[in-house]
Amino acid sequence: MPETSSDKNRNLPATGSGAMFDNLAPRYDLLNRLMSLGVDKRWRRRTVRSLQLRSGDKVLDLATGTGDLAINIARKHTDVTVVGVDPSAGMLDVGRTKIAKAGLSERITMREGVGEELPFENDTFNAVTIAFGIRNCTDRPQALREMRRVTKAGGRIGILELGEPRRGIMAPIARFHIHQLIPRLGAWLSGAREYRYLQESIEAFPPSEEFAVTMGDCGLHILDLVPFGFGSCHLYLAEVPKDEGDLAN
Ligand SMILES: C[S@@+](CC[C@H](N)C(=O)[O-])C[C@H]1O[C@@H](n2cnc3c(N)ncnc32)[C@H](O)[C@@H]1O
Repeated sequence: MPETSSDKNRNLPATGSGAMFDNLAPRYDLLNRLMSLGVDKRWRRRTVRSLQLRSGDKVLDLATGTGDLAINIARKHTDVTVVGVDPSAGMLDVGRTKIAKAGLSERITMREGVGEELPFENDTFNAVTIAFGIRNCTDRPQALREMRRVTKAGGRIGILELGEPRRGIMAPIARFHIHQLIPRLGAWLSGAREYRYLQESIEAFPPSEEFAVTMGDCGLHILDLVPFGFGSCHLYLAEVPKDEGDLAN
């Protein structure tokens, strides 16, 4: 009997780890587009704009996966360099192929690593982004402190993340999308385990205001909290304080 994708996935960790994403890598972009109904593209563009990058800046795109956000940044800012970091070799491989096809290999480099222990010196980057990846970090405060450590004073940090839509008349529809449509679509296209993880991890992510407080506790100065998709996604925009006094403002 032929092995089905759910047979293949039965013994894989459904934890959001790099190993789980290695398994998803070949289908990740397609699944992403279908599940977000394509709106993730708009959210990514808004994230890139909010960084206010300047000529010659160096950006870290953490949990870069297949590199969509890194590519967005490099396309919009033709004199900026990007380093993408992710623990999944499979996702990075797909990303490297896309980057080469886009003719961006000179300005985007991809390397393996995790958010909790970044392989960079202090104050290396002008800005850091992480899209749909902070949820997967097992120690989020540690990953936030690492982002702060590697970013220069005054540099921006843009975190795009999904969460449970809690308020507003459209919230039940958005919750239906997350709890009913995503797991079914995911199970159909790839195997149930990963998409049960996706739904459970979205449910478990703290409310946006609470996560913004955690960011503040990790030494980041929150500039903006932008809801998208009826509250199913937020852009958390922060700055690394120029001096400790900035945090009080
Ligand atoms: C949902 S994907 C997002 C990929 C990409 N940023 C995007 O916007 O499409 C989540 C990524 O987080 C990565 N990841 C898992 N654990 C991580 C960790 N501890 N630190 C950094 N990235 C991690 C996974 O390998 C995966 O590529």
